[in-house]
Amino acid sequence: MKLNVIKDTEPLQLDYRPEVVVNRKKEYRLLNSFVEMVSAGESQNLLLHGSRGTGKTLLLRKTVSQLESVNLVWVSCRVHDTQYKVLKQISEAVTGKNTKTGLHTSEYQRTIQERTTQVQTLVVLDEIEFLLLNNGNDLLYYLSRTNPDKLSVALTYSSSQEFSELVEERTYSTLYPETLELEPYSTEEVYQILAERARLSLKPRSLQHEALSYISETIRNPAIGLYWLKITAEHVEDAIHAEDVKACYESGLQSYVYEQLEHFSEHHKLLYQAIEELSKEETTTSSGKVYKQYQQLCKAQSKKPLSDRRISDHLKQLEKLDLIQAKYHYGGRKGKSREIRLSNRSVPL
Ligand SMILES: Nc1ncnc2c1ncn2[C@@H]1O[C@H](COP(=O)(O)OP(=O)(O)OP(=O)(O)O)[C@@H](O)[C@H]1O
Ligand SMILES: [Mg+2]
Repeated sequence: MKLNVIKDTEPLQLDYRPEVVVNRKKEYRLLNSFVEMVSAGESQNLLLHGSRGTGKTLLLRKTVSQLESVNLVWVSCRVHDTQYKVLKQISEAVTGKNTKTGLHTSEYQRTIQERTTQVQTLVVLDEIEFLLLNNGNDLLYYLSRTNPDKLSVALTYSSSQEFSELVEERTYSTLYPETLELEPYSTEEVYQILAERARLSLKPRSLQHEALSYISETIRNPAIGLYWLKITAEHVEDAIHAEDVKACYESGLQSYVYEQLEHFSEHHKLLYQAIEELSKEETTTSSGKVYKQYQQLCKAQSKKPLSDRRISDHLKQLEKLDLIQAKYHYGGRKGKSREIRLSNRSVPL
């Protein structure tokens, strides 16, 4: 890694919180009024949805940091993806004590119920889509009915499926969230977001306008752009030109993908690798072929492959991460089958 053009790596990190928020004034105002209501003791629920990289986590983190006299509990559902894990997190946050594992779900529920009777509390469930792959419905139903005058819930959600289709009707109607959608960024907005991060992290005049234009015309998700920019910056001697950026797309994307898979298992990585290998031959592949390729990769590394069923669940997680896209076909000789392709691969290189 060369550090010739980088002066500070921090602003190139995904979780860096920039002071300047590009073009989200209206949404920011709405989120602020949600936070003000909760701070004023009026409990409310919120659903913030939009495709990957639309700024859900950034906007919510910024606005909830202004909460006053409210107990804030932030849970990443990518990491805590079952009702049990989330209840444990909330319970530990509201009591300030770690619990030994092994407590029953109902014990955590009772603790949360008791601790939120008096104190205004906001529970943020970031990336609820991962919880909804498991028993997220039960958790949401429980939260929506627990001390509704004191307990508010804010959800971020990213999926091609409508949120209301994924949760049970009774859950949706008791939760009844204020809904706010974040639209994908335009080329110009991606440019502005990345330009500001580049200004803070790269040496002056080291990034050519054409290079940044190329990135922002190619991708919609600024998170991928950040990784792409960082990898390119690490490879060049004195300046980033459009050709450098073009040459680094694959490695930039790879770096984004591996960061996304960080909290997942070795098998998720092998599975992604299997799809990548198959994609060199054809744009779309089938879940059957993917499973075979994955088994071969396991064999080559002397690892025991997981069952077809578990791999099917892993594929759903890759789909929620928007690393792959899947199309489902029903009926036919094999019942349900899945056509799979990698995301972010329609790049004109
Ligand atoms: N309006 C904006 N102004 C400045 N930076 C932004 C803006 N929106 C997003 N970003 C930056 O882009 C990156 C992606 O944003 P963020 O992680 O908040 O998106 P997200 O919608 O939560 O994505 P995901 O669905 O993958 O969790 C972050 O590094 C964030 O700081
Ligand atoms: Mg997010």
